[in-house]
Amino acid sequence: MRWHYEDIDYASIHAEAIRNIDFLFYLITSASFIEITSNVYEKNLAIFYAGDDEVVSWLEKVWEPEELQHGKALKKFVQSVWPEFDWQRAYDRFKELYLPHCTLDEFQPTRVKEMLARMVVETGTSTFYKAVENYAKDLNTPILAQIAHNISKDEVYHYDNFEEAFKKYTETEKLSRSDIIKTIYDRLKMVDAEDGRLAYRAIYETLTGKTFRDEYYEEHKAKVRKFAKKYYPYKMAIKMLLRPLQLHRTVESVSVPVIQGALKVIGI
Ligand SMILES: [Fe+2]
Ligand SMILES: [Fe+2]
Repeated sequence: MRWHYEDIDYASIHAEAIRNIDFLFYLITSASFIEITSNVYEKNLAIFYAGDDEVVSWLEKVWEPEELQHGKALKKFVQSVWPEFDWQRAYDRFKELYLPHCTLDEFQPTRVKEMLARMVVETGTSTFYKAVENYAKDLNTPILAQIAHNISKDEVYHYDNFEEAFKKYTETEKLSRSDIIKTIYDRLKMVDAEDGRLAYRAIYETLTGKTFRDEYYEEHKAKVRKFAKKYYPYKMAIKMLLRPLQLHRTVESVSVPVIQGALKVIGI
């Protein structure tokens, strides 16, 4: 691993300066839940790519430990700033809500398309953490900026690895440009689906003991949109999403739906 969360100086965080920012609390806690559940995805991916020892061994030995470390690093940040929050109880609730959705059914129909989907997911995560890094700098919270920076770099590295495997699979499973655009677009739409909403719901219920209502999450999403407008690295996202198309001259006509999809993911 390129970094170790144990080396981060959590004790130096000025918790008082940021602990009243509810939006930050929900954002980072949700991310910690989703990251720390990566072992479930890893098992499903290993089943999906069974027989491809190169991919399966990288998923087990590199990808999963790194994703889990993301979760642990974020969890420790949450527990350092909001120690009164019962992270474990909220996470147990999240798992109860979310695990039934984690099945092989959510995968693409073929191996090459799933590699493309993985690249979309890593685009989403690397750019999200870049936005968090930018936000943390603005909040004058260097420890969070450091964590988000490290995670964002890892996610780019994951993207590169999935891209290598994507290229390998395209040698035997040819995809047309429209297949590529459709797969990217379909996966982008899924990013906005359940995980963020269920994480928010689990946190809300644990924190307040009240019944969750969808409008609360809609309010949170409105705040995410504002956050994204200010901090999201759009150019980076668009560049990564378009890379599988290996664009030359026809950039404009094919890139528009992809860019629209990218913007939709973050609710713009
Ligand atoms: Fe991650
Ligand atoms: Fe990743």
